[in-house]
Amino acid sequence: MTAPGLAAANLGYAHRHLLGIEGLSADEISFLLDLSENYVELSRRGNKKTALLRGLTIINLFFENSTRTRTSFELAGKRLGADVINMSVAWSSIKKGETLIDTAMTLNAMHPDVLVVRHPDSGAVKLLSEKVTCAVINAGDGSHEHPTQALLDGLTIRRRTGRLEGLIVAICGDILHSRVARSNIQLLGIMGARVRVVAPPTLLPAAVERLGVEVFFDMKEALKDCDIVMMLRLQTERMHGTFVPSTREYFRFYGLDADKLKAAKPDASIMHPGPMNRGIEIDSELADDIDRSLIREQVEMGVAVRMACLDALTQDLRGHNLAAAEVGPEVGPEVGSGAGARS
Ligand code: NCD
Repeated sequence: MTAPGLAAANLGYAHRHLLGIEGLSADEISFLLDLSENYVELSRRGNKKTALLRGLTIINLFFENSTRTRTSFELAGKRLGADVINMSVAWSSIKKGETLIDTAMTLNAMHPDVLVVRHPDSGAVKLLSEKVTCAVINAGDGSHEHPTQALLDGLTIRRRTGRLEGLIVAICGDILHSRVARSNIQLLGIMGARVRVVAPPTLLPAAVERLGVEVFFDMKEALKDCDIVMMLRLQTERMHGTFVPSTREYFRFYGLDADKLKAAKPDASIMHPGPMNRGIEIDSELADDIDRSLIREQVEMGVAVRMACLDALTQDLRGHNLAAAEVGPEVGPEVGSGAGARS
């Protein structure tokens, strides 16, 4: 776990934005995961609030529908004491013909400190980050990257198995349209895990093996001896045309059920970023199996990881030598070291 004060010295994460996992080092990823551990503790307390980001403004700018990720970022910002504003642009300005850059410039003029952005187009969040003066977090851009999802998945796996290095992780399903898959392939590769992908050929990107993964078309072969089975949603909203013959057929060959899971290690865990299509990519009972499924834990880790990312990206703004009292809980008893409130 990160020593108190390390983050404040800004040693761990030296970028202005968090746009993707690509380009991060193993040390930076470990730093963010370690920092997240503090926030797991904090989020399990009665009083979950700190004043670390008091006075800072976070805007959640979502050009695509989202409940889970937006709520998770909102909770993370509020638990850190920031002012959080949610904007769902898909239903307002875009309809009035305003461009991405117009929206960014308008919001920038309001002096936010962090913009959390989700956009249906790959690359849009990076473009936006070049036009604004604040820190930008990519909350998912098209089928490109979703870095906080990969970080929360990495944290969930590390807490379950104690490590990432050397694990065999099978990512299954709609890889072609999945930013979750792309970010996870990057993160797991950087951290020394072995990544397999399995999907029908129509749902795999061209030359996917160049991402450093082993490619399978058969679920049982892909799952053989693996430690983690990561299922993906069939992202029909991104499909133009027919990619699978029918959802029944898809479940038969690529849906996770007890029989296919037998090929994995006996204690292998199941993950899914949500939202799940029960009975299409995953058997409903397996998804709820508390011994095998980490799906609920992934949601919990999401808030902690996003708190860590907001913390890491605002260190410069807060100054490097905050007094302990300033980062302590707003009300209630002091917490011990390692419980989120860092000295
Ligand atoms: C993922 C996303 O939006 O990319 N979901 C999420 O972040 N909760 C995966 C998905 O939509 O299937």
